[in-house]
Amino acid sequence: MDELFEKQQYQTTNRQYEQYAIDHSMPDDELLSELVRRTHLSFTTSSMLSGMLQGRLLQMFCQMIGAKTVLEIGTYTGYSSIYMARGMAEDGILHTVDNNPEVADIVDEFITRAGFSDNIIAHQGNALELIPKIIIPTLDAPLDLVFIDADKENYINYYELCFNNVRKGGFIIADNVLWYGRVFGESAHNDKETKGITAFNQMVKEDPRVENLLLPIRDGLMILRKK
Ligand SMILES: C[S@@+](CC[C@H](N)C(=O)[O-])C[C@H]1O[C@@H](n2cnc3c(N)ncnc32)[C@H](O)[C@@H]1O
Repeated sequence: MDELFEKQQYQTTNRQYEQYAIDHSMPDDELLSELVRRTHLSFTTSSMLSGMLQGRLLQMFCQMIGAKTVLEIGTYTGYSSIYMARGMAEDGILHTVDNNPEVADIVDEFITRAGFSDNIIAHQGNALELIPKIIIPTLDAPLDLVFIDADKENYINYYELCFNNVRKGGFIIADNVLWYGRVFGESAHNDKETKGITAFNQMVKEDPRVENLLLPIRDGLMILRKK
């Protein structure tokens, strides 16, 4: 089956309850609505945006746990970074990393306009290299939360790279763990992204160091709490 058609079919099946949830949740404010519009106009990849339900959930997570130190892997245009920063402590620091130089300008512009120039550090480059070499050595405190939202085949690597630096009781949240339905049933795929997500989901379920919940909102969020 054609991949785009398959993704659209999956989204259509889930659209009704998702739309109801969106209609009964707080909408994006003016700045984030503008960021979404600009992302759609400037990039053909705008389906990578987290969306309001997930953004608001991440913000509330940060508020609930009093997050001060957060790492995001996969900035894209900064939408989820801004949501998380809004939920963090006033003096909190969010490190976010992306290897696509084309998003750097829009990320900088919107972080500044959102008032988070002092709170969000946007790293440019390969997360697999920057996390151990640049980000972890400069952390002032253990991580309260890690949000994994980059290349699917490296989810396990990101998890292992960060794990020891997450505080006890801290969270790791991974996006797209349902991978548009490709991880289950007859339509299960065999490509490297699907294999990466499938292996990640299995590995964390069996990891005695964490408690886990696969939350089926949007494309699936794996919520992990370090014991
Ligand atoms: C799904 S998007 C992130 C969406 C963003 N978190 C949001 O909610 O708006 C994934 C991003 O990961 C980035 N990415 C993929 N592989 C990467 C890598 N090895 N290192 C750093 N960033 C990577 C891509 O450039 C892309 O912008």
